[in-house]
Amino acid sequence: MVKSFQFSKLPLIYFGSGKINLLPGLIKRYGSEIVLVTNPESFIRSPFAAGFFNSLQDNGIKYHHVIIPGEPSPDMIDTTTRNLMNERIEVVVSIGGGSVLDAGKAVSAMLYRKESVKEFLEGVGTMEHPGTKIPFIALPTTSGTGSEATKNAVISQVRKDGYKKSLRHDNFVPDIAIIDPQLTLSCPKNITAASGMDCFTQLTESFLSDKATEYTDALALEGLKQIKCSLRKSFLNGDDLDARSGMAFAALTSGICLANAGLGVVHGFASSIGGLINIPHGVVCGTLMATANAVSVRELRNTGSNPSALGKYALLGRLFINAGEKSDEYYIEGFIDYLMELTSELELPRFAQYGIGISDIDVICRITELKNNPIKLSLEAMHEIVRERL
Ligand SMILES: [Fe+2]
Repeated sequence: MVKSFQFSKLPLIYFGSGKINLLPGLIKRYGSEIVLVTNPESFIRSPFAAGFFNSLQDNGIKYHHVIIPGEPSPDMIDTTTRNLMNERIEVVVSIGGGSVLDAGKAVSAMLYRKESVKEFLEGVGTMEHPGTKIPFIALPTTSGTGSEATKNAVISQVRKDGYKKSLRHDNFVPDIAIIDPQLTLSCPKNITAASGMDCFTQLTESFLSDKATEYTDALALEGLKQIKCSLRKSFLNGDDLDARSGMAFAALTSGICLANAGLGVVHGFASSIGGLINIPHGVVCGTLMATANAVSVRELRNTGSNPSALGKYALLGRLFINAGEKSDEYYIEGFIDYLMELTSELELPRFAQYGIGISDIDVICRITELKNNPIKLSLEAMHEIVRERL
C-alpha cells in the first residue's frame, strides 16, 4: 500500500536557460519597490548584472540593495530589517547561493516585525512565527542547498557556544523560484564541488529517511540521475551548460525532497559543526558523505534493524554503477566505493583545514542530531565518522 503523506506547497517554478529575463515582469505582479539581496561578488560581477539593473530601471522598479557576505546571522537579518523599516517594500528578491537565498527568505519573514529573528529560531527562541511575510522570489546561482524550494532559512551564530538553526514556516517556501542554469556558469570550482555534494547528500538522505514516501522517492531518484550525469562534469568543466542544468535540477529537487522527507546524520553534523566553526555547509556535507554512509551501512548490517534501508542502498548502487546482474551486497559496496572516489576526485577538504582537531570530536558528536537517519548511531560510531575526515 502507498504510505500516507502530506506534501508542502511549492513555489511557482520557472526552470531553464534565459528564465532570468522573466524577473522584472514577475516582480511587477507584486509591486515596484523591492529589496534585492545578493552576495558581494558573484552575481554583481556576472555578465547578467548590467542588463538586469537596466531592466529594473526600464520597468520603474525601485530597489534597495542588501549585500550578504556569508551565512546569515541574526544580527545581519535584524540590521537589514531595521534599516528598511520606513520603506514600502512589496517584494524581496534574492539572487545568490544558499546563504543569500536564506537571508532573503528571513528578511521577507521579518520585515515590519519588532522582534529579533532569534525569537523565532527553532531551539533558540520561544515564539512561533505566524507565517506572515512579504512575497519572496528566489534565483539560485549555485546548485546546492535547494533553498529555492524549502520552507526554512538557516541562520547561524558562529562561536564556541554558537548555533545554526532554522526559521521555518510552511508559508516561507518562496512564492516564485527562477532556476536559470546560466546563472551558475560562473560558480567557482570549489563551490561547485561543495554545493554539488550538499545537493547529493540531500537527495540521498531524504531517499533513505524514515520519513520518505513514494512521492519523495520518485523525485529523489530523478534528482540522483542528474547527479550521476552532471556532478563530475560540472566540476571538471564549469562552462558545460548541460551539466550545470542537470545540477540545477538536482538542487531544486533536493530542496523539495528534504522539505518533505527530512535529512540524516550528515546534516545533523552540518548543523552542529557549522554552529561552532566557520566552515561552509557544503564542505561539511561533502567531506562526511562517504564515511557517514559507510558507517550507517555497517551498522544497518550489524543490527539487521532496517532491511528496507539496505534495499535502498542497493538501489542507489544500481543507479550509480551499471554492472549488470550482481547481488545487493555488491551494489551496496559499490555505492560506498563510488562516494569514496568522488570525495577525492572533487578534492573535498578535510576538517583540519578549518582548525578542527581530535579534541573537538566529542563536543561535536554530543550535540549532533541524527535527524531521520535510517539507523540510530552510537556516540562511538559518530566519533568514527568525524575522525575519518580530520
Ligand atoms: Fe544541505
